[in-house]
Amino acid sequence: MIREVLRMGDPRLLERSQEVARFNTPAIDALLADMRDTMRKYEGAGLAAPQIGVPLRVVIFGVEHNPRYPDAEPVPYTEIINPVLVPLSDDMEEGWEGCLSVPGLRGVVPRYSRIGYTGYDPKGGRIEREASGFHARVVQHECDHLDGILYPMRVRDFARFGYTDVLFPDIAEAPADD
Ligand code: NI
Repeated sequence: MIREVLRMGDPRLLERSQEVARFNTPAIDALLADMRDTMRKYEGAGLAAPQIGVPLRVVIFGVEHNPRYPDAEPVPYTEIINPVLVPLSDDMEEGWEGCLSVPGLRGVVPRYSRIGYTGYDPKGGRIEREASGFHARVVQHECDHLDGILYPMRVRDFARFGYTDVLFPDIAEAPADD
């Protein structure tokens, strides 16, 4: 079921979400199904459970190669519960981000270039990965939602934060939504 995506200003987006205690339950399966439906409907690169008003540490993300966004390397479709990420170096890089909870806007956000992340798939299987570039950016963006952080809170240069259609008049060059 497609769910309403909460927008910035809603206090529920600013809360720390809780760990999932039990895996592979009908409630978690139903939550993931709704998150998939909602992310696809709005063509997001990722979605975190608190964005649909569920304060649990569950995120989904994935980006197929899209010729409209040649710089965005593909990110494998992933559903991850109780994710934990650690930077693998202090190196950071800047990149454009958007968010389904901040519709119509884009901003440049610094993120760690390389991270490791762990968590559980919906059956309770362990996920352990390393990621860099756009993949690492998407994971950091989604995990921030679980701690009540929206990407505009990380923007440092507000000269590069604004309305998508103004920043990118040629919409074909607009970066993908997270
Ligand atoms: Ni977001």
